[in-house]
Amino acid sequence: MAEIVIVASPAAAGVLVASEIVRLIESRPDAVLGLATGSTPLPVYEALRARIGGLDVSHVRGFALDEYVGIDPSHPQSYRSVITKEVVEPLGLDPDLIHTPNGAFATIEHAGEDYERAIAEAGGIDLQILGIGTSGHIGFNEPGSSFGSRTRVKTLIEQTRKDNARFFDSIDDVPMHCITQGLGTILKARHLFLLAFGEGKAAAVAGAVEGPVTSSLPGSAIQLHPHVTVVVDEAAASQLQYADYYRYAFANKPAWQGL
Ligand code: PGA
Repeated sequence: MAEIVIVASPAAAGVLVASEIVRLIESRPDAVLGLATGSTPLPVYEALRARIGGLDVSHVRGFALDEYVGIDPSHPQSYRSVITKEVVEPLGLDPDLIHTPNGAFATIEHAGEDYERAIAEAGGIDLQILGIGTSGHIGFNEPGSSFGSRTRVKTLIEQTRKDNARFFDSIDDVPMHCITQGLGTILKARHLFLLAFGEGKAAAVAGAVEGPVTSSLPGSAIQLHPHVTVVVDEAAASQLQYADYYRYAFANKPAWQGL
């Protein structure tokens, strides 16, 4: 099963995951990171900023999970812009090595295949950062997504558009469609870090970690992956049945195991 780490705050989660990313880049300077957008990964990027000094990140490669379809890449809420602003610029990564799915209408029919090819040519993703939506989605794989799915166009559910309306002037401005790595794509990354903070994510986290493996809760796909670290704060952990066991197991973890 996934390893569950319950931390005191999003900042503590950020430090934990950033340490692992630094360790990875130290051992593999051209590491391939799977980058997430939204509020959840921000503490990771913030902690990385503090840790990155002295580290050569010029060869680090990255693939974002998803992008809106039809949004201008220069729009401040396109995930290309968000990744540039939150990750590429502050960390000093090479923008040519950081990819987002291409949401342009003109090439959308083959954009998924193109993205899959680019990930494969990079040798696959070493470490994938994931948030989870209140719908249980990871990436933009909404309920019903196939566990074998690859990067493709999906229709956002109304709840996700509501959740993301805070980034736009109104919900009507939130695109209806997205292009997202599939659950099958995500499951191929070598190490998954799923993060969640706050009470609003507690049900989705409990479903993903302890519920049945079901496409009705796409985050439950992580139960099929051999190397998953779930990092949650107390509020997001509040519906986990075995929280005490997870705390006990992590506190007594042999140091040689690492994360
Ligand atoms: P959030 O979104 O990090 O903004 O809460 C997570 C997600 O929708 O995957």
